[in-house]
Amino acid sequence: MAVDLLLGLQWGDEGKGKIVDVLTKNYNIIARFQGGPNAGHTLEFDGIKHVLHTIPSGIFHDNAINVVGNGVVIDPVIFKKELDNLNKFNLDIKSKLLISRKAHLILPTHRLLDAASEAAKGKAKIGSTLKGIGPTYMDKTGRNGIRVGDLELNNWKEKYRALADKHESMIDFHNVDIQYDLQELESDFFNAIKELKQLTFIDSEEYLYQAQKSGKKILAEGAQGSLLDIDFGTYPYVTSSNTTAAGACTGLGVPPGNIGGVFGIFKAYTTRVGSGPFPTELFDKVGATMGRVGNEFGATTGRPRRCGWLDLVALKYAVRINGVSELMMMKADVLSGFKTVKICIAYKYKGEKVNHLPYNIEAENIVPIYKEMKGWEKDLTKMTSAEQLPETLIEYIDYLEAELEIPIKIVSVGPDRKQTIHR
Ligand code: GDP
Ligand code: IMO
Ligand code: MG
Repeated sequence: MAVDLLLGLQWGDEGKGKIVDVLTKNYNIIARFQGGPNAGHTLEFDGIKHVLHTIPSGIFHDNAINVVGNGVVIDPVIFKKELDNLNKFNLDIKSKLLISRKAHLILPTHRLLDAASEAAKGKAKIGSTLKGIGPTYMDKTGRNGIRVGDLELNNWKEKYRALADKHESMIDFHNVDIQYDLQELESDFFNAIKELKQLTFIDSEEYLYQAQKSGKKILAEGAQGSLLDIDFGTYPYVTSSNTTAAGACTGLGVPPGNIGGVFGIFKAYTTRVGSGPFPTELFDKVGATMGRVGNEFGATTGRPRRCGWLDLVALKYAVRINGVSELMMMKADVLSGFKTVKICIAYKYKGEKVNHLPYNIEAENIVPIYKEMKGWEKDLTKMTSAEQLPETLIEYIDYLEAELEIPIKIVSVGPDRKQTIHR
C-alpha cells in the first residue's frame, strides 16, 4: 500500500495538525518524518484545543498507531511535557505511540548552543524557536549525535558527557552572555529520559516496511513548510531539515516509488514567523486584521506571525518541488469581510517581470505584482458543504486551481475538526 504525505507549502503553520487529525480516520498509521519541537500542530475538537510538538497528530484516534520517524529530533524534556498533557485523556500511549531508534536526541546543550548561535548572529539571527533544532541536526550530519536507540546501550552516558562537554566549549567560543545552570537542566533531562524509556522503541523502517506489505494505510505528517526547507527554502532563514516530499523518504525509510498522494496544505493568505524575506508581507491595517482574525501567534513560541497576501509564485514553486497531487486551503474564513482580496501572480525582480521564485527574494530585489479579486462578505465558519460557499470564494478557488493545475479538495473554514469542507 502506498504512503500518502501531508506537508505545508508555505512557511509553516498552515494547519497541518488540524488536517492530519481530520484524515486520521482513513489511516492505520500516522508517521512524523522530520523536525522536532520547533513544530506546533494545533487540533481542536469537542471544545478542546490541543497543541502537539513531536507527537503525531493522529494520537487522539483510537485505532491509529503514531510513529515518530528517524528523521525527527526529540527533546525528551518537551516530549515528557507533551505526554503529561495527554495523561488526562487516557490514551494507550504505550501501544499507540512508537518511536524510531534512529531518531536523534536534542540535549540541553543543543538548546544552549542554539541560543548562543542566535545571539552571536545579532541582527542577522534566523529567528529560531531556540529548541536546539539546528545544533542537533548539525551533530547528526557531523556524525556525533546521540540516538534514541543509544539509550538501550550501557555506555550512552559516556557518549552524552563527551558531547555535552564539547558543546560547552562551543558555547564559550560564541563569546556571548548566556546564563545557564547545566546541572539543573541535566536533572530535568535525565528524568525525562527515564519516562521516554518507558515508551516503545522500534526499528521504524522495518515496522513501516511490514505495514506497507500487509496493506496498512500510512499517512506521513510533515512539519514546518516548503519555504523553510534546508535546500529549497529561503536559506539561511530556514529550518535544518528537508520539509519537502523527499524528506518523507529519508525521514521514514519509505522508497520514492511507494509514495502515493502528496497532499499540499496552504493558507488562503500567507504567514511567516521568525526572520527572512516575505515578498507579500503587509505592514498595514489589512495585515493586522489578518493577524487578529486569524489569531496568528506561534503555537510553539507565542510570537506574532507576520501576515500578507497569498503568494502564488511561491505556491507554484512549492507544488512543483513536492509533486503535490491534492491541495487543501485553510483559513478562508479569516479573509471574510475584505471588499477585495489580492493574489501575487508574478514579481518584478530587479526591474523585470518574472513568474518563478528567483534565488534572492529579499525586499530590495522584489516587488510583488498582484491580481485583485472580489472578496467574500459572508461568515464561512458555520458552513458545512461546498454548495454553501459564496460565489466570490468559488471564483478565488477556481482561479487557484486553474493556475496550479491541481484540485483543492478541502476548504477549511475554522479551527475545529468539524469546520472542514470536502470538495
Ligand atoms: P500547523 O503547524 O500547520 O499544524 O498549524 P498551527 O497549529 O501552528 O497553526 C494553525 C492555526 O490556525 C491553529 O491555531 C489552528 O487552530 C488554526 N486553524 C486551522 N485551520 C483553520 C481555519 O480554517 N480557520 C481558522 N480561523 N483557523 C484555523
Ligand atoms: P510547524 O510544524 C512556523 C521557523 C522559525 C524560524 C526558522 C528556524 O508548526 O509549521 P528552528 O527552530 O527550526 O531553528 O527555526 O523556522 N519555524 C517555524 N515556523 N512553523 C513551524 O513549524 C516552524 N518551525 C520552525 O520561526 O524562522
Ligand atoms: Mg505550527
